Formats: sequence, structure tokens, C-alpha cells
Amino acid sequence: MEMKGLKKSHEQFQSSSDKLLDWDHPMYKLYEKAKKFGGWNPKDIDFSVDRENFAKASPKEQALIAQLVAMFGAGEEAVTLDFLPVMYTMANEGRLEDTIYLTTFLYEEAKHTEFFARWRQEVGLTEDLTKYHSDNYKKVFYEKLPEAMNALYTDNSPQAQIRALTTYHMVVEGMLAESGYHSFRLGFQASGLIPGIIAGIKNLSRDEGRHIGFGTYSIQRLIAQDPKLYDVFSQTMDDLLPYAIGLINDTLEITEGEHMYGVDWSQMTDYAVSQYTRREAAISRAMKHWDEYKEIEEDA
Ligand SMILES: [Fe+2]
Ligand SMILES: [Fe+2]
Repeated sequence: MEMKGLKKSHEQFQSSSDKLLDWDHPMYKLYEKAKKFGGWNPKDIDFSVDRENFAKASPKEQALIAQLVAMFGAGEEAVTLDFLPVMYTMANEGRLEDTIYLTTFLYEEAKHTEFFARWRQEVGLTEDLTKYHSDNYKKVFYEKLPEAMNALYTDNSPQAQIRALTTYHMVVEGMLAESGYHSFRLGFQASGLIPGIIAGIKNLSRDEGRHIGFGTYSIQRLIAQDPKLYDVFSQTMDDLLPYAIGLINDTLEITEGEHMYGVDWSQMTDYAVSQYTRREAAISRAMKHWDEYKEIEEDA
């Protein structure tokens, strides 16, 4: 398998030239943020209350939590294992600041994977949770994500980059992970049932804000160079939307329409759609006003 356009040698090294590092580069700034905020340790989080409360929870409550953890855990593992081709692409294109930032990216995804596995270990939820991966979930995480990412190993075209970045950052992180955090907060923040997870989620979602920031910036950069790529972005979003929405609807079945923890869980679908619209709007804005969007939009 050979990648077209793979560099065989270096023409120069930026950091030993008169350029040094571009300290104002949006991705360099993100790297500084990651050093400051991304150093948290899942091992420092206390899961003792989670263990006690989970053991006492009703079977239905346990199933709701187990399902969220089963989807999140595998999701974090998928984004850890599948991210390398993007880093490979940025390094191959000689994007030093992007590559420097991405060294923190993969480390953070690894920690997110550790976080959910550690929670399961400490709470004693060690049974196989694969049964919670519905067909829609499998379509996105078992097929679409690795397919789009691994394509970059042999095809580094801007089209292939847009497909990978859109799948990973806009749909998986921007729509699905963000909706997952929302579910955890909505259901479990006030109840105090699983405070260890809530503490972890706070760190996780801050890391994800930077990750989505990288994705948004990179997609905007590519589209600014060739506005026709907007169609590739849009097609990728449309292709994934039914599975992403389907996946969220599958998870709601467990509540049987009941307002568990006083929450109307059906609002999750609307929340996911609003995230989708938000990502789409951020990218379309860049098309019209690229100059104003050169600075990274920090994701909330
Ligand atoms: Fe993550
Ligand atoms: Fe992420």
C-alpha cells in the first residue's frame, strides 16, 4: 500500500530556520491550552460513591448507565485507534504547529478510553457490554469512522481529508460525544448518583472542545482554499445523519418513554440535531467570511 504524495525527504526544518515556531498559529495556541488543561489524571478521580450508588440502583437505572458507558467507552477507543492517519497527513504536509498540537490530542483520547475502562473496573461493571451497540452504532463506529480515517493512508486528497475530518470531528465528536455529555449531565448531575463520571465528563468535554476546534479549523482551511469542497463536507454530514440520529433513538428505547430522573429523554434527539446544525453553520460561515474566521473559534 503506497500513499501518493508521501514525502521521501525534508526540504528544511522550520524550527532551525529563521521561522522558528509560529507562536500565533491557532494550532500552536491550542497546544498551549492543552498543556495547561489537558494534564488531568483519570486515576485521581474518586469512584467510591459511584460504586456504592451503582450497586443500589434499580436494574433499569443500571442498564441506562451501562448503555451510556458502553457507547462512550467504545467511542473513545475508536477515536484513539482511528486518529493516527490525520496526524500522519498533517506531518506529511509539513504542518508543524498542527502536528505539535496533535501530540496532545491522541494522548487525551487515550486518557478518555482509560477513564471509562477504569470506571467500569472500579464500579465492578466488568461484564461484556457489547450488546448495547445497536446496528446504527456499529455502522458509525465499526464501519464509517475507520473507513473514512484509513482512506487517508492511501489518499491524501483534500476530498479524503474533508471526509475524514467531518466524520471524526463534526459527527462523532461534535454531534455524538457532545450529546453523550449532555445526557450524563442531564440525568446524573443533580441526582449525585455517579459523581466520579460527572467529574471526569467535565475534563473530557473541555478536551473535546479543543479537538472539535482543530476539526473546525482544518475543515474551514481546506474549504477556504477550494469552496467546492463544501459539497463534500455537506454530503458526508448527510450520509451520516440517519445513523447518528438512529443511534440516539436506539439509546432512548431503554427509558421506555419514562421520565427517568425527571428528564424527558426524547429531547436528546433535538439536542443532537441542534449540534449538527451548529457544526454545519460554523463551516458555512467560514465560506462567506474566511478572513474573519482565520482565528480559531474556541468551541464551547
Ligand atoms: Fe475523547
Ligand atoms: Fe476527542
